[in-house]
Amino acid sequence: MGVPQEDADGGDDRGHLPQLLAIGVVASIIGVVLALLIDWWPALASREGKQIDTLYDWLLVVSVPIFVLVVTVVLYCVWRFRVRPGQEHLDGPPMHGNTRLEVIWTTVPALILLALCTYAYVVLDDIEDAKGDSSLQVRVVGEQFTWTFFYRNPEGGREIASNRLYLPTSTQTLFRVQTKDVLHDFYVPAFRLKIDAVPGITTNFKATTLQRPGTYPVVCAELCGLGHAVMRQTATVMPEQDFEDWLAERAAEGGGGAGAAGGAACEGSGPATPDGAALFTADATRCGQCHALEDAGTTASIGPNLDESLQGRDEAYIRRGIVEPDADIADGYQPGIMPPNYEDTLRPEEVDALVTYLQEVSR
Ligand code: CUA
Repeated sequence: MGVPQEDADGGDDRGHLPQLLAIGVVASIIGVVLALLIDWWPALASREGKQIDTLYDWLLVVSVPIFVLVVTVVLYCVWRFRVRPGQEHLDGPPMHGNTRLEVIWTTVPALILLALCTYAYVVLDDIEDAKGDSSLQVRVVGEQFTWTFFYRNPEGGREIASNRLYLPTSTQTLFRVQTKDVLHDFYVPAFRLKIDAVPGITTNFKATTLQRPGTYPVVCAELCGLGHAVMRQTATVMPEQDFEDWLAERAAEGGGGAGAAGGAACEGSGPATPDGAALFTADATRCGQCHALEDAGTTASIGPNLDESLQGRDEAYIRRGIVEPDADIADGYQPGIMPPNYEDTLRPEEVDALVTYLQEVSR
């Protein structure tokens, strides 16, 4: 760069500029179009997420051309100024600093960064400042390695606990996030919102569901130990009336109980006799995500194979394995991986049904 120099071909450095620029502009346009065509995110399920998606699109529009231009210049130079036969021992033309160029390449990126940071800050501030009273509050409690969702009991009794996050459509919810042990991070990708669960304090965010019933993953986004990868649950967004019915039903049962086996809760039917086989693979327990059990057709190997480890065991042993999983750890497995909260999130009948089922199939 700098003072025009004769290059290896004997031409003027600046002669390359228009050519470079033309390639760069065309490549940038292709890059931006491709970047915007790609579905980077899962389906959107919150009003706040719209602003995040727009912000993300703008980040792509600004950053893709910069990336493409830099790569274009590098590749162009590698190709155009490559060493040719007979030039192996030649030194390149001497380089001098260029103050004007340095000022430009410092100022322009600084301005772009400042503009993007300002925009991102405005979006963040807007989302955190969400107007309106949250008509619903959910206390989210993380622990190794599960989330439990607590709802206020409409009848004033003890909080309603669930292993699945139920939310009504078109409703703003205040999530109060806590942890019983280490750092976790409450993340619903479809909401585009996440926040750390920090020991000793309560963090929170508000999210407003859209008029879009469906199920969406809830994950932990902070490496929290061996079971981090299995700390995944489900959020069900359901019509407001269904949600009210579900809450009333749980309240009538006296608080605890995930009761999601076979999706009975979604249909708003009364509490049926729990089906142990259905519970084993249901979201409420997620047993089948970690354990192999021939009868249930599951093959996961995160926890012990239950056909082997439960064979010939009595009811008390199986029950303890569910409600007090760290009391007796099978050889070759670590304590602390299996959620320790089943006694809180399952109804007693559901634990009974699981025990009966497991004893029958592992005989
Ligand atoms: Cu909890 Cu990762």
